[in-house]
Amino acid sequence: MTPILNALQGGINSSPPLWLMRQAGRYLPEYREIRQSVTGFMDLCFHEELATEVTLQPLQRFDFDAAILFSDILVIPHVLGQTVHIIEKQGPVLKEIEGQSFFDRAKGIPLEEALSVPLKILYNVRQALPSTKAVIGFSGSPWTIATYMLEQGKSKEFQIAKNHLETRSPLFIQTMALLEEAIGTFLIAQINAGADVIQIFDSWAKAVPLPHRNDWVVSPIRRLIGRIRTCHPNTPIIYYGRGVSDLYSRIVEGFSNIALGVDEDVPVPVMKNQIQKLAPVQGNLNPRTLLEGGERMKRDVSDLLQAFQGTPYVFNLGHGILPQTPVDHVAQLVDLVRGEGR
Ligand code: CP3
Repeated sequence: MTPILNALQGGINSSPPLWLMRQAGRYLPEYREIRQSVTGFMDLCFHEELATEVTLQPLQRFDFDAAILFSDILVIPHVLGQTVHIIEKQGPVLKEIEGQSFFDRAKGIPLEEALSVPLKILYNVRQALPSTKAVIGFSGSPWTIATYMLEQGKSKEFQIAKNHLETRSPLFIQTMALLEEAIGTFLIAQINAGADVIQIFDSWAKAVPLPHRNDWVVSPIRRLIGRIRTCHPNTPIIYYGRGVSDLYSRIVEGFSNIALGVDEDVPVPVMKNQIQKLAPVQGNLNPRTLLEGGERMKRDVSDLLQAFQGTPYVFNLGHGILPQTPVDHVAQLVDLVRGEGR
């Protein structure tokens, strides 16, 4: 069994397995080179050969334990008809949802066909890697993807999305239902295609107003996990809910082979004494610490290694690697986690 699967299923490794969220991306010169060869970011996500190569890039350079599919949480709205453009320094921009006709059309789209390229990339990557390395598939959560669809891009305050939620607008209800169905189908297809593990990114869960978190975070996630479980009872599912670790006990209740991704705002003792009591944990080095490097990185890495030694734990950042991060710092981090950098 790969070290990551072992940890995610409650086992213990002599040193923790590691991968980094957004490990394939702009901090790597070899990524930037390939990125330049295509016009739009989505063109790269749907280019089988190039995206397969980009997925494998971080493992060619570093001794990571897993490859994560190179794609984006926004491929789902993109193929459902809400075309996405990622604009430099601004982020994603999505086409407007033009009323009921959008949903009528979206429901008829055969998702596994529309997403056959990411699925094929997972297959290619699983074929290319030795059995000691894991392949991670992923999706955004319904709410996190819905924020982009309703706001037509990235938002700071999520006023539009929250307004739809609080008024239970037909647009909101339909968007959430469409997404829940699509995400479940896509995640199951990813496991069928070769993913050993899947991660659900709920990066904006915290924007759901407190009284609504049960209906629009906990319940949809539990339904998704339940649906995946009917086809794949043992595939580990990592739930990464940024800023909502207080919901974790309700999310995992009664499920097995769930692991919890923890963001950098959660203190290590809370992660260890509260969250790890529920399930194996993953995280939570601050991406800024990796950017900074040096003594602070050594100290924080050492704190995590000490806290989780001899427990089911996957080393990771608390959020995605920052594009300005020096490649050398990542190399040092890997050495530290492997125990060679002391
Ligand atoms: O982890 C990996 O290496 C796999 C690839 C991956 C990307 N995005 C590539 C990407 C994954 C897992 C994601 C997830 C994702 N995408 C999330 C959830 C995780 C998180 O960071 O909170 C979210 C919210 C998105 C939405 C998204 N995609 C935004 C807001 C942006 C623009 C902002 C930015 O960082 O540039 C993207 C674009 C994006 N996704 C890039 C990459 C490498 C940069 C675009 C480029 O290279 O041109």
